[in-house]
Amino acid sequence: MKDIAENQTEQIKETAVSAEPDRETVTDSFPENISENREQEYENKDQAYDKPKPEVTDITAETVWQRMPKRLQDSHKGTFGKLLCVAGSTRYRGAAALCTEGALRGGCGIVTLASVEPVFASVQARLPECILLSCRPDQEGGISRENGDILLQELSQDYQALLMGPGMGNTADTKELVLQLVGNAACTVILDADALNAVAGTALPVPPDAGVIITPHPGEMARLCGCSIADVKAHREEIALSYAKENNCIVVLKEHRTLIASPQGELWRNTTGNSGLARGGSGDILAGMMASFAATGMAPLDAAICSVWLHGAAAERCSRRMSETVMLPHNIFFDLGKLFLEQGIQYPSPKALSEVRPEPSPVSGSSKGNGNNKMEEIQIRAAIPGDAPALLDIYRPYVEQTAITFEYEVPSPGEFVRRISNTLRRYPYLVAEQNGHILGYSYASPFKERRAYDWTVEMTIYIAQDARALGIGTALYSRMEEILQKMHIVNLEACIAYSEKEDKTLTNDSTRFHEALGYRTVGRFSQCGYKFGHWYDMIWMEKIIGEHRSPMPPVLGFNDVRELFSL
Ligand SMILES: CC(C)(COP(=O)(O)OP(=O)(O)OC[C@H]1O[C@@H](n2cnc3c(N)ncnc32)[C@H](O)[C@@H]1OP(=O)(O)O)[C@@H](O)C(=O)NCCC(=O)NCCS
Repeated sequence: MKDIAENQTEQIKETAVSAEPDRETVTDSFPENISENREQEYENKDQAYDKPKPEVTDITAETVWQRMPKRLQDSHKGTFGKLLCVAGSTRYRGAAALCTEGALRGGCGIVTLASVEPVFASVQARLPECILLSCRPDQEGGISRENGDILLQELSQDYQALLMGPGMGNTADTKELVLQLVGNAACTVILDADALNAVAGTALPVPPDAGVIITPHPGEMARLCGCSIADVKAHREEIALSYAKENNCIVVLKEHRTLIASPQGELWRNTTGNSGLARGGSGDILAGMMASFAATGMAPLDAAICSVWLHGAAAERCSRRMSETVMLPHNIFFDLGKLFLEQGIQYPSPKALSEVRPEPSPVSGSSKGNGNNKMEEIQIRAAIPGDAPALLDIYRPYVEQTAITFEYEVPSPGEFVRRISNTLRRYPYLVAEQNGHILGYSYASPFKERRAYDWTVEMTIYIAQDARALGIGTALYSRMEEILQKMHIVNLEACIAYSEKEDKTLTNDSTRFHEALGYRTVGRFSQCGYKFGHWYDMIWMEKIIGEHRSPMPPVLGFNDVRELFSL
């Protein structure tokens, strides 16, 4: 009954941001010549805001991994696109380095950084992989407007994406250069940071066919729209959507739960990230990753969706090893790599994964597994993070309608992805599937963290309500036991809500199921869980599946034994 992450997630703060803090004070002012029109426009929009909020789709792991292109083995650097980053100034050298690293780590084949000489000194030593295009400086140490033609000439050499903005400085030269390039580039353009200030107060120049992505935080969005930051925060969905439609661009409105709006009216919400990202440099990395994905051939909307989610997910992982306080933006690259590794180096979509995964073994050992019944079609395989939505569908009614779990709120898909990934690092997490439809899941988790408990695990199992009593629970538990035995686990513990008086919120079916599978009750806590206005008991049930020896062989990880089971 008790979920592994009920313990683990207490350590994971839900507060999440993915916005780069302002480098300067944001004001609500906007150029005189457009202010009156804008004020009128937003007065009208205020009335539009009375309408119901637009529909938003949460970005999940599945959303992302299904969109990530496969890296073909038969490939070369040209296969993965060319990206030009126009970034940096004498004052903001790190921004150029960070967006370039984000771009290189995002998988793009060739990344060229166009900047001023002082920037190159810091970038070259750190990122020898990028090509440097030296630009004439302006009087303030930024990239001079005189470089426009050279940069357009460079872009004409088969670049798929152009990123402008990180660390450029908010100067007249930046403004002129950005407007010249965005109006003439023939590839996808990503405008970040100071490039956004450059286009604020003017209509976005006609975007290239390949599309434009802008990545404002609320202050920058306010400047772009000529409204207040409070307006942006209060009506972020409507403002992002209307700007996207009016300017025919993708808007990535960076904030806690970043929003992505498309000109076609799609609205996506990120589900990852944390306060560790709330520092200068995070936005530069995100912009680099996004531009990189666009350069490798992803559609601008997909590049935005995937980069935002991965950036936040990597930060969450990073905070678990370094803390949200101590982690720095560039530390997330290590964790980004881990995320890709977990999905398989070629990050196939879940569909492709099932194509390459070894054939799952048919269910066996079930009391109902013989004859011509449904059990013959059910297969057991290891869970992947992309299963989270399907598993949530199974878990949701137990949270909302029963006291079988003491959890009050249905976890978010992102949270469930984290639970699956955390578990799989050490323990088995299995799903039972029929014709591609998941009917139940079971996993093991640490009983307690102290070393002496290593040979003991807690068991959890949930079967879809309409698939109970078909033998699926038995099949999942049997396979779990076989695996745990190979891992040298000896004690299985199950924590089960119990009530003397059964009712619709809690029957004792779970206790009966465990008894049928050889568990015995070893302890009872009275009235220790409060849900739906009732106090419930909780019992511990236990099954011994191995010998208590001395010395004991060390416990193996799931990854050490899963091949034995073709999982
Ligand atoms: C409890 C649960 C896991 C059982 O899974 P299941 O697939 O329905 O169980 P099975 O069909 O494999 O049943 C196996 C045996 O358990 C016993 N059992 C299962 N449900 C039972 C019930 N409602 N009443 C009596 N015995 C029951 C029976 O002995 C059964 O074997 P049999 O039908 O051959 O006699 C499932 O019903 C479930 O997900 N319940 C909600 C979540 C939960 O309670 N999880 C456990 C706490 S973590």
